[in-house]
Amino acid sequence: MKDETHIRGLAHTDTIHDSAIKQVQGQADYTDDLNEPSGLLHAYLGLSKCAHGKIASMDLDAVRASRGVIDVLTVDDIPGENDVSPNGKHDDPIFADGKVLFWGQPVFAVIAETRDLARRAAAKARIEYQELPFALDPIAARDAGMDYVTEPLTLRRGDAGKGLSAAPRRIKGRFAIGGQDHFYLEGQIAMAVPGEDDDITINVSTQHPSEVQHMVAHALQVPSHSVVVNVRRMGGGFGGKETQMNLFACVAAIAAKKWNRTVKIRPDRDDDMSATGKRHDFVVDYEVGFDDSGKILAVQGDWYARCGFSADLSGPVTDRALFHADNAYYYPDVRVSSHPMRTNTVSNTAFRGFGGPQGVIVAERIIEEIAYALGRDPLEIRKLNLYENGQLTPYHQEVTDQILPRIFDELEVSSDYQARRQAVLDWNAKGGVIRKGIALTPVKFGISFTATWFNQAGALIHIYSDGSIALNHGGTEMGQGLNIKVAQIVAEAFQCDISRIKITRTTTEKVPNTSATAASSGTDLNGMAALDAADQIKARLVDFVAERWQVAPEDVTFVPGHIKAANHHIPFDEVIRAAYMARIHLSAAGFYKTPKIHWDRATGKGRPFYYFAYGAAVSEVSVDTLTGEYVIDRTDVIHDVGRSLNPAIDRGQVEGAFVQGAGWLTCEELWWDAKGQLRTHAPSTYKIPLASDKPRIFNVKLADWSENAERSIKRSKAVGEPPFMLGISVFEALNMAVASFNDYREPARLDAPATPERVLMAIEKLRG
Ligand code: MTE
Ligand code: MOS
Repeated sequence: MKDETHIRGLAHTDTIHDSAIKQVQGQADYTDDLNEPSGLLHAYLGLSKCAHGKIASMDLDAVRASRGVIDVLTVDDIPGENDVSPNGKHDDPIFADGKVLFWGQPVFAVIAETRDLARRAAAKARIEYQELPFALDPIAARDAGMDYVTEPLTLRRGDAGKGLSAAPRRIKGRFAIGGQDHFYLEGQIAMAVPGEDDDITINVSTQHPSEVQHMVAHALQVPSHSVVVNVRRMGGGFGGKETQMNLFACVAAIAAKKWNRTVKIRPDRDDDMSATGKRHDFVVDYEVGFDDSGKILAVQGDWYARCGFSADLSGPVTDRALFHADNAYYYPDVRVSSHPMRTNTVSNTAFRGFGGPQGVIVAERIIEEIAYALGRDPLEIRKLNLYENGQLTPYHQEVTDQILPRIFDELEVSSDYQARRQAVLDWNAKGGVIRKGIALTPVKFGISFTATWFNQAGALIHIYSDGSIALNHGGTEMGQGLNIKVAQIVAEAFQCDISRIKITRTTTEKVPNTSATAASSGTDLNGMAALDAADQIKARLVDFVAERWQVAPEDVTFVPGHIKAANHHIPFDEVIRAAYMARIHLSAAGFYKTPKIHWDRATGKGRPFYYFAYGAAVSEVSVDTLTGEYVIDRTDVIHDVGRSLNPAIDRGQVEGAFVQGAGWLTCEELWWDAKGQLRTHAPSTYKIPLASDKPRIFNVKLADWSENAERSIKRSKAVGEPPFMLGISVFEALNMAVASFNDYREPARLDAPATPERVLMAIEKLRG
């Protein structure tokens, strides 16, 4: 290897994503690109066509007789447990057992010679259902007396009832917030390769290899050590591959073991969208008490969530909605409650922000209510109510790292907010066909898994005798740049060029008992674990070099491409070769657990978050009031990632998250018909933002002066999810444009998403 002194890829540098070139050239391997062993079979799911019903009869003869079909699997073919629930509730069957609980539920799987033959055969099933009563949305479920799918939560501090009665002004409202499909470009996919004895290897697109390992082990009734799960990369996960992959992996594994052949399963987009969970939609009843200055005195609210037929991650998702019901604002008296409603729809799951966005957007609606009631700029109301350090959140965590006042000040100036808001007001006053809106909204997002035990990670580093380094950790790459960031941390530790470090696939064989790559904490956790492993090897090398070159250990340092022992300058390769010959152990397993955090759900008190990530955005929109169509004219963002490990990657995360957040609140709409069938199950009916939908002017800046006040990895902060909520600025700007029709006497109170149809209908109503 080169004896380099100008090394690339250290921490805090713009380092190219390790897959970027392979991805644009089509040379990056996704699960479907892996070499297929001979004898490969394909599985395809047969889905229910009934929202809730007993299976009266199931005739699969035509399926079995279909060309190329090898087998049809049903619940009777599962050697172990018919369950993939991630929470021990045993309520997530692989195949429907006697009854179906939503339209699109897997009932059987066809195993055939080709994917196309399997798919065609699956359509030939004749299943009759005895229909049972069903509820599709959370309010219908509540009214029908359906139970909670998981334990609800209430957070309180002070006395919200008293605070509201004493408040000079009170406003009450209801807000319906839509869900969102993940629309990962690579859909769900798994390929199971059987081995000897109980062994099986699953190549799969999942954010949570360890959980897939456990699920497959339970379904096959074998120990976890028999199951190996490999993930090279995903073509996007966004939370949709945190638990939703379990079922596909199990089906492939069951078929592979039954036939002792490799089995691949990949649903097409329509079936993927019908059969897998999405972002939770909510209906929220809120009430706020405030004074004439706009200061919030008390808030109470009830979050009703469409959880679907099973719990999945609905507990922690609805909890997180409450954890973010305050967004960045202090509520002196507060009571917020979740109502995780069971519905006869697909079981909703993790999605970027994990319930947080559905909390934050209600806090911003409350700010709008106050501002419009008082005839003030919402920004003034925001500033008035921002947390001050020392104040307590509704879950009794003290805010100690508030930096939003500085972000607001900088953004107000850099976006020219005041002048542009005046220009928007002047423009609208002319009463033309095009109306405009502008809004500045913040985000404060808590970083850590609220299930405290998930905040742990492992890593494994080998240095081979030629000086090349193999790096493994428990995190998975879904495009977010986790692998390159962790590699940069290791390059920095050894002061070596990034090209020395091989970024390898994630595998349960190398790092066990990992957490999902989620909650934006991939780099925080795995970066620290990798640093721990690097530090162990470094300590051994320091001792070795001190002894060999006869210097004090304090005089041994890692400098670019070399190790310095007093005045000896020894190339890295030479040290490694010598260390190997001296029988120094050149491999280490690292570990990390997040300090300081604790959370007691029973009392609703604790410190669930290690720290907060902050940001703010200003968006300006133009609405065509004859059609309801709109464009985002300009967005300015300042976002806090602490001391960025890789500014280029972090800016990409901020841009992508913003656009995905804006998509959630504008064009992406899920629609179920009266029978419970999802009708928006393909890009023909479900519109994700296009490149042409991004802001015409898009200025994204990192708050480069920010440093994490906690001992995070190199004082950086998590970035994956928080900027998603900056998309709320677009939603509020659209509301302002609509409210211009009543001279801003009242907020427009649009439900989300504010599709062009919804915007047009709101305008028509105000036009009278
Ligand atoms: N970025 C890309 N390109 N693709 C993704 O699927 N998922 C997001 C975010 N950014 C995602 C992404 C979600 S939901 C999370 S939780 C984080 O990345 C997970 O990765 P991290 O913890 O390494 O940030
Ligand atoms: Mo992200 S929703 O935590 O996978």
